[in-house]
Amino acid sequence: MSTHSPRRWGLGKSLLCLAPLLVGVPFLAYRENYALPEPVIDLTNPTTGLPQLSEARVLAHAKYLSEDIGFRTVGTREHAEGDAWMVKQAEDIQRQCEEIVRAHPTRKLECEVWHQQGSGAHRFDMMGHRLYKTYVDLTNIVVRVSDGTQEGKQHAVLVNAHLDSTLPSPGAADDALSVGIMLECMRVLVNTPDWVPSHAIIFLFNNAEESLQDASHLFATQHPIRESVRAVVNLEAAGTTGRELLFQATSEEMIRAYSHVPRPYGTIVANEVFSSGIILSDTDFRQFQDYMNVTGLDIAVIGNSYLYHMRKDLVENIEPGVAQHMGENVLALLLHLSSPESPLPNLTAGFTKPKTVFYQYLGAFIIYSFRTANILYITLFVASAALARAVYVDPAPALRTKSALGEQVKSAAAVGAAVIGALVGANVVALLMAKGLGKGMSWFSSERSCMLLYAPAALSGALLSQLPFGRLRERTTFASVILLQSFVACVGQLLGVGSAGVFALTAFPMVVATALNAILTKAGDDISLWSYAVALFTPLSLGAQMFFIVLDVFVPLTGRTGEEAPAEHIIASIVAGVGAYTLPLLVPFMHRFGQRTITRATVLCTMLTAVAIAVFSMRSPFDQMHQKRMFVIHMENITTQEQYLHVAAADSAPGFPQLAQRIAEDWSVPGAVPTPMTMDAWNNDWDVVYPFSAFLTPYKFELPLKSEHLDAIDHGFAVSATNDTTDRHSGTRSLTLLVRHPGIIWTAIAFNAHVLKWTLDESPPEEYARHYVKEGSFYGHDAWSLDMVVKIPEHDPDARIAVNFVGIHEKAMWPAKVAEKAHGGRAMQLFEEFDAWLEKETAGTADALLLGCVGGITIV
Ligand SMILES: *[C@@H]1O[C@H](CO)[C@@H](O)[C@H](O)[C@H]1NC(C)=O
Ligand SMILES: *[C@@H]1O[C@H](CO)[C@@H](O)[C@H](O)[C@H]1NC(C)=O
Ligand SMILES: *[C@@H]1O[C@H](CO)[C@@H](O)[C@H](O)[C@H]1NC(C)=O
Ligand SMILES: *[C@@H]1O[C@H](CO)[C@@H](O)[C@H](O)[C@H]1NC(C)=O
Ligand SMILES: [Zn+2]
Repeated sequence: MSTHSPRRWGLGKSLLCLAPLLVGVPFLAYRENYALPEPVIDLTNPTTGLPQLSEARVLAHAKYLSEDIGFRTVGTREHAEGDAWMVKQAEDIQRQCEEIVRAHPTRKLECEVWHQQGSGAHRFDMMGHRLYKTYVDLTNIVVRVSDGTQEGKQHAVLVNAHLDSTLPSPGAADDALSVGIMLECMRVLVNTPDWVPSHAIIFLFNNAEESLQDASHLFATQHPIRESVRAVVNLEAAGTTGRELLFQATSEEMIRAYSHVPRPYGTIVANEVFSSGIILSDTDFRQFQDYMNVTGLDIAVIGNSYLYHMRKDLVENIEPGVAQHMGENVLALLLHLSSPESPLPNLTAGFTKPKTVFYQYLGAFIIYSFRTANILYITLFVASAALARAVYVDPAPALRTKSALGEQVKSAAAVGAAVIGALVGANVVALLMAKGLGKGMSWFSSERSCMLLYAPAALSGALLSQLPFGRLRERTTFASVILLQSFVACVGQLLGVGSAGVFALTAFPMVVATALNAILTKAGDDISLWSYAVALFTPLSLGAQMFFIVLDVFVPLTGRTGEEAPAEHIIASIVAGVGAYTLPLLVPFMHRFGQRTITRATVLCTMLTAVAIAVFSMRSPFDQMHQKRMFVIHMENITTQEQYLHVAAADSAPGFPQLAQRIAEDWSVPGAVPTPMTMDAWNNDWDVVYPFSAFLTPYKFELPLKSEHLDAIDHGFAVSATNDTTDRHSGTRSLTLLVRHPGIIWTAIAFNAHVLKWTLDESPPEEYARHYVKEGSFYGHDAWSLDMVVKIPEHDPDARIAVNFVGIHEKAMWPAKVAEKAHGGRAMQLFEEFDAWLEKETAGTADALLLGCVGGITIV
């Protein structure tokens, strides 16, 4: 028995031997993950003379919307300008179509334009909160490109992007980039001489997504051509760099359609993570799915998500190649979906949960059904069990302490313990960083830096967990890893989790490696390093890809998930968990060298952990391109005539209470202390951003009544009740709540009542409850109403309803309205000074959204 083979290399030499793989594979995965095409400038290809998708043109559109027009927040003047600009673009393309058909009468091409305008209401539950949206006269611009026949229009694909931008952002990537891409796709398609669409393409330029998906609701419920939509392609952005990710795909047909794009980028893992809801995000896709019952694809740019919904979401920060990449993929998708091979006519069955596994792996896009997956993974598990038995070698009689099965179970336990040890190790350090040292989120400004902090800790934990197991045989442990991986793949898949396939993808080459080992080595030898090399390739490359995508999404996300979210532990657990997936053979590899080596390696990793802790403790979480998100409200209470300054953050990084203290000293009345507020159902200060307000850590400051800040804004914001009749006999009261809000946008009301019936939906909760209703309307539309019948409380028949109301002054939004700050009254004067102060105080590491709000309370 050669458990102490004299020829065995030590840990260092063996690692050195595997180093090219350990470093090279993740490096290649990195290159592949972030590769973008060369941007194209010319509108026509100089060699073929055919129109081509031009990144320069896409970005010119995006720049016009985000900089020439600016912040296109629903209800603002700029929002209306965006609408008018888009109508003109649509009419231009329609004119081009007509000219082309006039010049080439045989060309089957028709472009139709709708400028849809309408009102409605929908329930929009989010993050566990019940919420209603009502909207007045919002708009959509719709262009249908077809062959002009009834058959050609019968089955259509809808491609959607939104023109509006959210409160704090000019929205260049989100979503002007996608608007530009759709315009470019239209130009290329219409101007391609031989292109004839067998199926229509409906381009929806939706003008109210950020107000919680009102315009897509409007299209999905009211547009005359909604019935012809068979599938949706939704284009979004939550970042400004890298390849756009397919993160929702809801039918096998559409996943197969996606495989026709030149550079696919998507995996079922992203799909399942997103649909689990833990990203706390949502797109128009939800409206199309809920109200049109169709399937489709949701695609978004996700890299550098630090700029998502920030002032710096500008064209200059969109990485070159992003628009080209996304544009060419969308164009290919539309070409396929409008072709005779299109799956559209078959997509009449409505939405059902898809049963398809798909991956992006080594440049290939792999698709197979859940049925195939079941068969494959079960076969794999059986094969690995048979192989484990076949290569099992009885130890020398002196060493034999238990049965083969017992030994296998023990080494499987060791493999499991390593995963748990890694998670514990990383989380102990996370606890130390966040609570012990008060240095949370030290890794925030660089997505992948957290690996340097938490990988050594995870390794220490994994190695330490091995010591209680004593000596384990390398071969048995190696077999355990394969058995466990194929077992997890099987069980996960049988439970309907398609992502479990990642374990099959790693187990499969390990089976090959085991077979290879049987050829390369003799029964009692160590496992050949060649076998490790074969077995490592897949987990290293897939694990690296997983690291890139997951950290790109989750690290910036911790900057907006609130103080309460355990950001440090989430990131530590991701590093440990994905790390365990990436290095599955750590346990057999370490047991190859025995206890002493494991002990020494544990000590070394622990020392490295200590160094990492020291280094990361000196880092500050934010910098100028990775800013802290801050929210500032100047509140005028028209009921009490009071003014307050509210300041909030949305992350768990240290230092905010200290900043609040300095704000109190410099901005509030003398001797003021910052008052931390409780963010609950009774705090209506932040209702304009409800339900995201749940993530805020707010402070409230009394404002000194500076004389220069006292020119009151002229507004007639009021809530009243009309058609108010009480029926004592039936114990009900019916009334119309009328909200008048001249010059005020994004109004929100909250009240308590037992509603029996209302115009918001068919089924109000059957109890006394607190209700939130938010409004979004087109510029200049200043009133909305809500009819309802409420139950009169038995103990107090004369009880009235207290309605809290709040809204944003359309001219008092900083920095959106800098250009016309003179019209913004006292709030804008304050914001100009406060923003400059904050910039200096934080050295440019914070990005604040400053809103001039007006609110009060009315008893009706
Ligand atoms: C649509 O469904 C029919 C019947 O199931 C099938 O024969 C046809 O190949 C399908 N077409 C496409 C494009 O998938
Ligand atoms: C969508 O269509 C499917 C298949 O026809 C049906 O089972 C499902 O109930 C529909 N969903 C909705 C929300 O209408
Ligand atoms: C409520 O009163 C308004 C006039 O104030 C009237 O136009 C409207 O139709 C009434 N609504 C109901 C539900 O009675
Ligand atoms: C305005 O003041 C009233 C009375 O104190 C209070 O109930 C209400 O919540 C305040 N509203 C806002 C938006 O500050
Ligand atoms: Zn968006």
